Amino acid sequence: MRSVITGTGIGVPPNVVTNEALSRLMDTSDEWIRVRSGIQERRYADPGQGSTDLGVMAARNAIADAGLTPTDIDAVLFATMTPDHMLPGNGPLLQTALGLRDVPTFDIRQQCSGFLYGLELADLFLQSGRYRRVLLVGAEVHTGFMPWHLGWDTLIGQSTREITEAERAENTLTRDRTVLFGDGAGAVVIEAREGDTGLGVIRLHTDGTGAGVLTMHGASFKRRPFVSVDQIQSGETLPFMSGKEVFRSAVTLMPQVVREVCEASGIAVEELDLLLVHQANMRIIEGVQKVLGLPPEKVPHNIERWGNTTAATLPILFHECRTLGLIRPGMNLAFTALGSGLHWGAAIYRT
Ligand code: ACO
Repeated sequence: MRSVITGTGIGVPPNVVTNEALSRLMDTSDEWIRVRSGIQERRYADPGQGSTDLGVMAARNAIADAGLTPTDIDAVLFATMTPDHMLPGNGPLLQTALGLRDVPTFDIRQQCSGFLYGLELADLFLQSGRYRRVLLVGAEVHTGFMPWHLGWDTLIGQSTREITEAERAENTLTRDRTVLFGDGAGAVVIEAREGDTGLGVIRLHTDGTGAGVLTMHGASFKRRPFVSVDQIQSGETLPFMSGKEVFRSAVTLMPQVVREVCEASGIAVEELDLLLVHQANMRIIEGVQKVLGLPPEKVPHNIERWGNTTAATLPILFHECRTLGLIRPGMNLAFTALGSGLHWGAAIYRT
């Protein structure tokens, strides 16, 4: 019995935000963003649109793609680092919006590795026989982190006012991070099926000594109060990232864990037909591809159109590869991701 992805779908907001548009709000340029990250545009949610809304869109599409109806789903795994609320999680909100039965919903928070951790849990649920059909959703609305009051509303056509110099200067303070992220969701339906296609070896890792490399200091229950105007004004409610360290860890640890799952599966790295890498940064994706010695055509990317959508990058990429016909029967695929935690991992998937 294997865990097989039987349906995929995405849910993305309508507002396309180009690098050029961002450069009207802060001191940045299309060239800087393209060269450093590979991103050309990303999507921004409308104000009031949350990661549950995008997740519901993606889930509806994935369930229909699997030829099922929402009442067929036995359990939900919702991966996000940008939930609608601190509590409850997005799972119960999605359950109600989709009209699912009274099924358990699990909210998981492994950030960029959320989809991989979700795959592991879904696989265990299915292999144990506890559930037959699991819905795994990765969805993010990062724009909530961003300083909308400083002109971001002009990006989505909700204001035409001129940006002041003071606003531009303040937006520039967080440009190293804000330009990298976009909003979006991807979902997959995973079912237990007889045969030798589906999920194979999965390896997950955590190294808490790297927790400070990618973290958010503000809005913390260690603080009194847990969130304050001071924290917001000092940028502590935006993720802090040590970009160079994340880069180094990513191009070292993702290749290592891809080798680990290949070895445990008895396949050589060069026998992989496709490697789907978390879409954080084009230079990281190319770095992983080169370290593993794979040709670029085996490592597809879509970061240029979506930016980094954290837990949503892998299901969106998988869906797009399927839609483009890049995924054909008899292939060896691998997924890999690394993110805040540090959490990282890889999974083999045979089509
Ligand atoms: N536009 C223009 N200039 C900028 C911008 C921007 N958006 N952001 C930073 N700069 C400037 C800096 O101020 C700095 O200027 P200075 O030299 O005058 O001080 C200069 O560009 C270089 O800054 P660095 O931070 O050294 O730039 P670097 O080359 O390291 O690139 C980046 C930054 C893209 C974040 C890089 O470190 C990287 O690729 N990191 C990987 C991490 C990553 O991509 N994380 C994504 C999210 S995490 C995840 O999903 C795992």
